[in-house]
Amino acid sequence: MRIKKEYLALLVVFGTVFIIRLFFTQQGISQVAGQKTTQLQKLRKDYIRRMCDIEKKALSAQKPRIKNIYDHFIVEERQKIIYCFIPKVACSNWKRVMFVLKKGKPYDDPASIDPINVHRISKLQYLTQFNSTERKNRLMNYTKFMFVRDPFVRLISAYRSKFLYNQKNEYFYRKYGRIMMKLYGNQQNPPQTMKEAEALGLLPTFKNFVQYLVDPQTEKKEPFEPHWRQMHRLCHPCLIEYDFIGHQETLKEDAEELLKHFKLENDIKFPSPFKNMTTSNLAMDWFKAVPLEDRRKLYNIFELDFKLFGYKRPAKLLDG
Ligand SMILES: *[C@@H]1O[C@H](CO)[C@@H](O)[C@H](O)[C@H]1NC(C)=O
Ligand SMILES: *[C@@H]1O[C@H](CO)[C@@H](O)[C@H](O)[C@H]1NC(C)=O
Ligand SMILES: *[C@@H]1O[C@H](CO)[C@@H](O)[C@H](O)[C@H]1NC(C)=O
Repeated sequence: MRIKKEYLALLVVFGTVFIIRLFFTQQGISQVAGQKTTQLQKLRKDYIRRMCDIEKKALSAQKPRIKNIYDHFIVEERQKIIYCFIPKVACSNWKRVMFVLKKGKPYDDPASIDPINVHRISKLQYLTQFNSTERKNRLMNYTKFMFVRDPFVRLISAYRSKFLYNQKNEYFYRKYGRIMMKLYGNQQNPPQTMKEAEALGLLPTFKNFVQYLVDPQTEKKEPFEPHWRQMHRLCHPCLIEYDFIGHQETLKEDAEELLKHFKLENDIKFPSPFKNMTTSNLAMDWFKAVPLEDRRKLYNIFELDFKLFGYKRPAKLLDG
């Protein structure tokens, strides 16, 4: 009986200590988490500044030059936000957010907005619609953000969304796909439509897509199409000092932090991304069919994206 009582007392003491410790640890964790995220932003921004400096020469040597550097900047006047969008990096979902902000209060749920709708230029306000004085003021005073992603994973995502069969992709098939098949797929006369090509099992492969990207002729006249153009050549992070740089790999946390920064966390819920998102685990599988030499050329073309945004060189893919 006595033993039992002492045992019980001991249990109470230990239990109390445990609960107190739990309380402090949890407080500690949430404080650290809050600090960690802003610290993470500071790290990313400091890092990019440093890399911009180191890579100054490589950046200015790039050709062909981008003529309209503000094409990808969406402006929200009421909230004073500028979002530089990069295709294949949560861009439909951020455009949906920008769209509901433009419509104003009470805010619609971004998930309820048809993503096709927000890609129409007329639905949002772009920095190109302002004159140079207005542009400068906005770039100076508004909060600017962008989202980036592992560059190779982004390319796989671009290929999957534009060159696998889909009725919406006829344009990409006719304008780019047929050229890839002619030049790298050994087909003198590829089918006229994507539908026919699909029926014959003749769509351009990922290997063909990479061959197209690494061919020096491809960018002779025009820069890459934005879905596969380097991210730094869409959002110019060495010319424009961003307040927030999000990563697709930590999209959920970064979106939450950014909405909190705008004090919109109670009004706007960031739509959950597609279930079938391309991940870096899949990269190895996609690149299996691409010769080592082309992988290395591809890395050279996208190297600045890897470096500026702090993505690790994919050694497994490049070192044979
Ligand atoms: C730009 O637009 C503003 C507002 O419409 C106007 O007041 C200003 O004169 C314009 N500036 C230039 C340089 O055209
Ligand atoms: C932005 O800031 C500049 C300089 O501080 C100021 O002259 C300008 O009026 C501001 N523009 C807007 C749109 O707030
Ligand atoms: C996800 O993608 C794979 C391969 O592209 C496909 O086979 C599968 O059906 C997709 N799943 C969903 C839920 O869309």
